[in-house]
Amino acid sequence: MNLIDCILASLLVLTFLASAECEFITFGIGASILSTASYYAYEKYKCMYMECCTNEYILADLDRLEYKLTSKLFGQKIAHETIINALRGHLHNSPKALVMSFHGTPGTGKNYVIEMIAKSFYKNGVKSQYFYFFNGRNEFPLQRKVDEYKDKLYKIISDGLQKCERSMFVFDEVDKMPEGLLDMLVPFLDYNSYHKSTKHSESVSQNKAIFIFLSNTGSTQIVKHLTNLWEKGKKRENMRLQDFEKLISDGAFNEKGGFHHSDTIQTSVIDHYVPFLPLEEVHVRKCLSRAFMERGVTPTEEMIEEALSYLTFGPEPHNLYSMAGCKRIDQKVAAIVHRKQKELKTID
Ligand SMILES: Nc1ncnc2c1ncn2[C@@H]1O[C@H](COP(=O)(O)OP(=O)(O)OP(=O)(O)O)[C@@H](O)[C@H]1O
Ligand SMILES: [Mg+2]
Repeated sequence: MNLIDCILASLLVLTFLASAECEFITFGIGASILSTASYYAYEKYKCMYMECCTNEYILADLDRLEYKLTSKLFGQKIAHETIINALRGHLHNSPKALVMSFHGTPGTGKNYVIEMIAKSFYKNGVKSQYFYFFNGRNEFPLQRKVDEYKDKLYKIISDGLQKCERSMFVFDEVDKMPEGLLDMLVPFLDYNSYHKSTKHSESVSQNKAIFIFLSNTGSTQIVKHLTNLWEKGKKRENMRLQDFEKLISDGAFNEKGGFHHSDTIQTSVIDHYVPFLPLEEVHVRKCLSRAFMERGVTPTEEMIEEALSYLTFGPEPHNLYSMAGCKRIDQKVAAIVHRKQKELKTID
């Protein structure tokens, strides 16, 4: 038992004895000591049973994330490096919230990476109370309600940051959000406004929050540019973030949806535009093999070919990229495995 435990225990005993006297005043004093003791005991032990905003629950284990990205994410070297460097820099010391925006065609790994980040950051992963996930299409569907959404979001974010400054806010399908909604985020994302708006502005030297946007905006530009580079003989693994960043931010700003003419872009509060490149056959094959292996089946070339035949590759004329990336591959693989097992049973 340490010193605080001893004090707490003695307080509890004292309270019990005092209460036993049954005198009204003594009872009152006893009750107040009891409540103080319970409060300290609760504060001390609550984190053993419930999630707290402490290192025990907020792991921020970037080595683990890096390992996962290396072993599980195929064909996204630029995204991998950009995300790891951005997070390392942010954790090291940052006066501003980290803001990243993931862009790319469907099934290229945007949500997949979010899940990996959440698992590496929070002991409870995506279930952490400090991990907030908003789906633009489902949660903010109507343009006419944009002001109502702004108030709602403002409250969630400011309450969230008060509860834990190491919270993470993810906005999926930003392209399906009403125009203008993201503008209310600027004070949270921007260094100057955030510090002015917090009451304890003097003591806050670091803003530990992380905001991530996901969308398909800028995809057309990414695919076009990647194809151009490919035609010029540039290898995918030699491409750099600089080849895509400007192109994505311009594309996003001009396309319809949450980023359209958005202040978040105009005021440059987004730190990193992260391109998720369309996946080639070689990457999709890896996704397929993994999906088969996860079902306990070592796939034959024939099985992989069959699964590939369900996928569409484009754009014309080269047809280099899987239009849906590695999306819905599991379902195709499951169907093939099921059929094969049935065939085997009938042979038996
Ligand atoms: N680059 C990748 N490497 C490995 N697996 C991937 C990759 N991209 C996608 N996958 C697999 O495909 C599934 C679907 O991908 P994900 O949901 O991340 O797509 P997305 O980029 O969010 O697409 P959308 O724009 O349609 O929302 C993932 O759960 C994962 O299993
Ligand atoms: Mg997605």
